[in-house]
Amino acid sequence: MQKILEVKNVFKNFGFKKVHNGVSFDLNLGETIGLLGPSGTGKSVLLRSIIGLEEIDDGEILYHHQRIDNLTEVELYKIRTRISYSFQNGALFDSDSVFENVAYPLFEHTKLNELEIEQKVMNVLRIINLEGAKDLMPSDLSGGMQKRVGLARAMILNPEILLYDEPTAGLDPSNVELVIDVMKKFKEQGISGILVTHDIPTALRICDRILILKDGVINFNGTTEEFENSNDSFVKTFLKYE
Ligand SMILES: Nc1ncnc2c1ncn2[C@@H]1O[C@H](COP(=O)(O)OP(=O)(O)OP(=O)(O)O)[C@@H](O)[C@H]1O
Ligand SMILES: [Mg+2]
Repeated sequence: MQKILEVKNVFKNFGFKKVHNGVSFDLNLGETIGLLGPSGTGKSVLLRSIIGLEEIDDGEILYHHQRIDNLTEVELYKIRTRISYSFQNGALFDSDSVFENVAYPLFEHTKLNELEIEQKVMNVLRIINLEGAKDLMPSDLSGGMQKRVGLARAMILNPEILLYDEPTAGLDPSNVELVIDVMKKFKEQGISGILVTHDIPTALRICDRILILKDGVINFNGTTEEFENSNDSFVKTFLKYE
């Protein structure tokens, strides 16, 4: 197995508030891991630390064995084309159409011409099943559609790793299914993922491995099967109450 991301003994405080107290785990090429944990344990902060939106206090984060926790903004700019973060709320630009929202990273990071951009965007809109929505504005979309557009924008540069922050939160069951379909398609294309979620059934369907973040450390790290069959009282309580 090829390690593409290594989080090594990461510490992070906000003032007196300790969030990460020695967090360590690896992500292997092609796998999707589920990062679970009670609210406020630092799952989103961890995703943001990976792409340098938060500075860690101690430890290391490696991408293909190179440190990425101490990069300059210019270097981070490049890393964020390889490791992409999909925000919980989609974070779409309200005054831009679906097409413009999805195309934005291509204008920002590539020198493709308009025809090439159109082809790429339409290809991704097909994957998320929203070809017909290209000219709509975010305010015309349901919450589920907005999330899918956010996912499309997060993958338009063909990243190697996608960080999903609660992609199914607040969605009705049919929209959850649509988002799962999108994540499955991305996975089939070889994109590795970290899925932060409270939605355990979805994590079990998508993930190869499950991690639980609690009290500042990774408390459980096992295959999805090991997670489901665990006799560990902490995992069992967690499964019951999440
Ligand atoms: N910029 C910040 N300044 C101060 N404290 C922060 C900041 N960002 C996050 N925190 C704190 O860090 C802790 C972890 O936050 P985080 O958002 O990562 O939790 P989470 O595990 O994603 O929770 P949820 O499941 O509710 O999304 C929380 O106590 C939060 O209040
Ligand atoms: Mg969060």
